[in-house]
Amino acid sequence: MELVDSHTHLDFPEFDPDRAQVIERAWQEGVRLIFNIGTDLNSSQASIALAESYSFIYASIGLHPHDARLLDGETSQALEKLAHHPKVVAIGETGLDYYRNLSPKEAQREAFAFHLELARKLGKPLVIHSREAHQDTLNFLRDFARNPGKLSPPYGIMHCFSGSLEMAKEAIALGFFISVAGPITFKNARKLPAIVKEVPIDFLLIETDCPYLAPHPHRGKRNEPAYVRFVAEAVAEIKGLSLEELGKKMLENAFKVFRLA
Ligand code: NI
Repeated sequence: MELVDSHTHLDFPEFDPDRAQVIERAWQEGVRLIFNIGTDLNSSQASIALAESYSFIYASIGLHPHDARLLDGETSQALEKLAHHPKVVAIGETGLDYYRNLSPKEAQREAFAFHLELARKLGKPLVIHSREAHQDTLNFLRDFARNPGKLSPPYGIMHCFSGSLEMAKEAIALGFFISVAGPITFKNARKLPAIVKEVPIDFLLIETDCPYLAPHPHRGKRNEPAYVRFVAEAVAEIKGLSLEELGKKMLENAFKVFRLA
């Protein structure tokens, strides 16, 4: 069985005690591709360092909406420089989070626009976070799809999707994939399984978003890429596929959206 984890934060301090073992465990469990997503300048640099150390890890660079207030001329120049690295396959994580509002909305929108511009300029796809900000996020994506610069579809990923079915449909029509994380496995999950059922398999991806959002039966504990298997099992069941078939399809989708040869 072969799997992909399309969204990890293995550079976070939660993994300091045993990072190498966590990565080894992922490989042993069949995880053949990991995309480590930068959330600020340091985390983006650390993501690249991980990608340089492991052939099956790739990196994305960006400033998370929570940290959007940190965007200044120096940071944007440094991020743009990092974006050229050959193992940097995406821009983000970027987007809007009006649930926690850890950065002011205006700063979040400015940072989002900066990442979209970088994607246009470099032709690299976007990793997008949207929480309680779905209309504003869609407005940015509509605008991007009208003027994608050097980027051709698919334009990126709606990571840890938490929107409605209507939003998923529109994001797909605009050129984005829908990625689901641990909540798909939760006993009380209703809305997300219904969305996964409707979204064509060609536009789906799976992720852990580790160290957060550990899937059942590890809910509440530290998450890790090996647990993407539980997300894969839940999606496979909804789609009526074997775990092997689902895993293979998710790898194909990851190759496509991240442009791996
Ligand atoms: Ni994330």
